[in-house]
Amino acid sequence: MQSELLRESQSRSPREDSLESSQERLRPSRSRTDCPILLSPRLVLRAPHEDDIDALAHLANNANIATMVSRMPHPYTVADAADFVRRTKTGAIGKCVYAITKADNGAFLGCCGIEPHPDGKTAELGYWLGEPHWNKGYATEAAQALTDMAFRTRDIDQIDARCRVMNVASRRVIQKCGFQFQGSGMVGSLALGGMMSVEWYRLDRKTWMSLRSWGGLR
Ligand SMILES: CC(C)(COP(=O)(O)OP(=O)(O)OC[C@H]1O[C@@H](n2cnc3c(N)ncnc32)[C@H](O)[C@@H]1OP(=O)(O)O)[C@@H](O)C(=O)NCCC(=O)NCCS
Repeated sequence: MQSELLRESQSRSPREDSLESSQERLRPSRSRTDCPILLSPRLVLRAPHEDDIDALAHLANNANIATMVSRMPHPYTVADAADFVRRTKTGAIGKCVYAITKADNGAFLGCCGIEPHPDGKTAELGYWLGEPHWNKGYATEAAQALTDMAFRTRDIDQIDARCRVMNVASRRVIQKCGFQFQGSGMVGSLALGGMMSVEWYRLDRKTWMSLRSWGGLR
């Protein structure tokens, strides 16, 4: 047995060794529950706070947003925004909810988050941006920063994302981040007061690592 192991290790190429050490670096040995501030070229992702309430209430009070996500009420009031900020602090909404802000002037643009599933191996990605900020690449930039953070700091195997079948922009964000189609299903929507049909996408760790090492993401 020992000689078999020895033979195996002797037959490994430097490239295989370097691939394995980079895989070990990319897969942490233990889970972390903290949510560090994330920086990307144009954005800072940080915890929502009280100063965001007015901008949050203003941007989130939009049926074009509320009807695309599962848990946003519509209409959306200042009280809803204050409640949201309060509940992000207690962890009642999710363990890792971020305000998406502009790096150059601190402007609040929207929110994103990554939530662990009970299986311990999967996390779910979500995001929305105020309508004035659409189509500038911000959601893709935020989703990629969150995805990188999640795979680097958590012992998860995959990240899931879901979007309404009619949500062309979100599907494009998901695809630009390297997620692959898994299937379709139904999810409840607070604003719609019923179920909406969604597409389910997944990015597994191996695909993410390949995309990162090929420079296929960002
Ligand atoms: C989905 C959402 C977050 C996208 O944010 P964004 O910052 O505009 O996204 P990006 O700019 O990174 O990418 C959007 C992509 O969709 C494309 N797109 C947008 N509208 C489109 C349309 N009607 N038809 C075709 N493509 C469209 C853009 O061209 C862009 O793709 P490209 O970079 O290849 O040109 C934003 O539209 C939003 O908040 N919508 C409401 C809430 C929501 O849907 N949240 C997601 C729930 S799953």
